Amino acid sequence: MRSFLNPCFSLHFKHHTFIIPLHMSRLILDSSNPPEAGSVLWRSPSNIALIKYWGKHGTQLPQNPSLSLTLASSCTDTQLEYELKEGSDDGQIALDFFFHEAENVAFRQKVVVFLESLSPEMPFLKQLKFTIRTGNSFPHSAGIASSASAMSALALCLCSIEDRFFGTLQDADAFDQKASYLARLGSGSACRSIFPQAAVWGLTSMVAGSSDEYAVPVGEIIHPTFKDFHDDILIVSSEEKSVSSRAGHALMDGNPYAEPRYAQARTRLMRLLEVMKAGDLTEFGKIVEDEALTLHALMMCSNPSYTLMRPDSLAIIEKVRQYRADTGHPVYFTLDAGPNVHLLYPGEVVVEVRKFIEDHLEEHCEGGHVQQDWVGEGPEEV
Ligand code: PMV
Repeated sequence: MRSFLNPCFSLHFKHHTFIIPLHMSRLILDSSNPPEAGSVLWRSPSNIALIKYWGKHGTQLPQNPSLSLTLASSCTDTQLEYELKEGSDDGQIALDFFFHEAENVAFRQKVVVFLESLSPEMPFLKQLKFTIRTGNSFPHSAGIASSASAMSALALCLCSIEDRFFGTLQDADAFDQKASYLARLGSGSACRSIFPQAAVWGLTSMVAGSSDEYAVPVGEIIHPTFKDFHDDILIVSSEEKSVSSRAGHALMDGNPYAEPRYAQARTRLMRLLEVMKAGDLTEFGKIVEDEALTLHALMMCSNPSYTLMRPDSLAIIEKVRQYRADTGHPVYFTLDAGPNVHLLYPGEVVVEVRKFIEDHLEEHCEGGHVQQDWVGEGPEEV
């Protein structure tokens, strides 16, 4: 297997038609003709939201559509080994779980709950015994969220074995759609990682075929500028987040600005897509930065309130604004629900921006740690 540090190239953009409905028939293995033991391995990237998903309802359904860039170097590799269980189906998920070659009880438990939740739709999950070996290309506890890359990699493995056993996902678009759907059930934002370059998750009149149930690719409609785009992640703190994303989403339920926020996100997403089609970097930066600050403002006025930025996050933001004013270089920031700052910029200024980071921003990062990333071509079966 190649190194985790290799970027993910290889999947070509597939035009999506989504004419095939999600396969919902009961998928049960015929024990008189059991499948041979085997394994599947997927590498899947993280993604950075430009329009944020914050607030959900029902079974992991978003309150507003979101839009992200698919990354390349922050990836999870997941190998799923399977064999038929001995004896009769005992109604349990059978799973051994290794993270970077060590057993991991907490991660195993999360995956067991996830597989259990899928088993009514995919009963074969309880007919098999699984071993998962997984690992990230970035250091664990580096302050980089791994749920998007991890859950999308696992969802892709599940689709591969479903297709191997039942031949239900032969169509590449149907495969991606189901992978995105399963990834969403594991961790909402993970559903966007299935697609190259850029993806939209959530119903919007701007994107035909968009859905709250799964993401759809939008790489084909954005300007080439955004396909050669960087995201350098400035690690201000690697500490675990003070509010989990599950608790954060729940806080939106009592937030007095929730409804206007959802309406804002819907119109912002439409505007951002127009701007990204046109390749207008100045407007792009305005929307993306405002969006990140809105996310943090929502958390500050939640009850209880959270301030997830640290003084160093603010110092970086101030320096980025000043650098932009001084040089005119198109470099913009966004943040997820944490203190780390993502710097977004086109490839044409990579040399200048990397020097700026080294000279002025690394001092605000824990151990000087910056994870260099860029827009990528989506997951690949390794
Ligand atoms: O997918 P979750 O439940 O971890 O939520 C992700 C929330 C944000 O990262 C803050 C925004 C987003 O759309 O990715």
